[in-house]
Amino acid sequence: MTAHKTALCPGSFDPPTNGHADVIGRALALFDRVVVAVIDNPSKESLFTLSERLDLLKEVFGGDIDVTTFSGLLVEHVRDVGADTVVKGIRTFEDYEYETQMAQMNHHMTGMETIFLSTRPQYRFISSSLVKEIARLGGSVGGLVPDAVEKALKEKMS
Ligand code: PNS
Repeated sequence: MTAHKTALCPGSFDPPTNGHADVIGRALALFDRVVVAVIDNPSKESLFTLSERLDLLKEVFGGDIDVTTFSGLLVEHVRDVGADTVVKGIRTFEDYEYETQMAQMNHHMTGMETIFLSTRPQYRFISSSLVKEIARLGGSVGGLVPDAVEKALKEKMS
């Protein structure tokens, strides 16, 4: 009998991009279950409300994933949802520096493991911040975000 393994993909997802979708899709191929956890951080200004981000993730991935929110320590949420491993995408050296420090701190706290997936080259330059800037300035975000997110961005900006 094989043990069921759950990956948890945490982030702000303001909004979800095609880079996020790539990492989540690849996590789905590697794990039995994927939980996408959206941080609830009222002190950080966001374009999309928490519930809008949850709805967008559900619309994009349907029933393939579970979507949750958390506001405390990531390691506690991982434990609460019964996940085994955190999965994150790495685009750049800056991501590497930032993410490895968090992964090491999380491992120090609870022994939790983090697996990094190297972003596919075609998504390397995509970030939620740039997507929002382009949308604010009236540019096209086609090919950068899932269709549902493109539509939601258009509605936000109109
Ligand atoms: O999409 P983001 O903004 O890069 O996601 C960052 C996130 C939510 C993964 C990170 O801020 C996080 O894990 N926050 C939880 C707080 C926590 O556990 N802090 C200690 C980590 S060492």
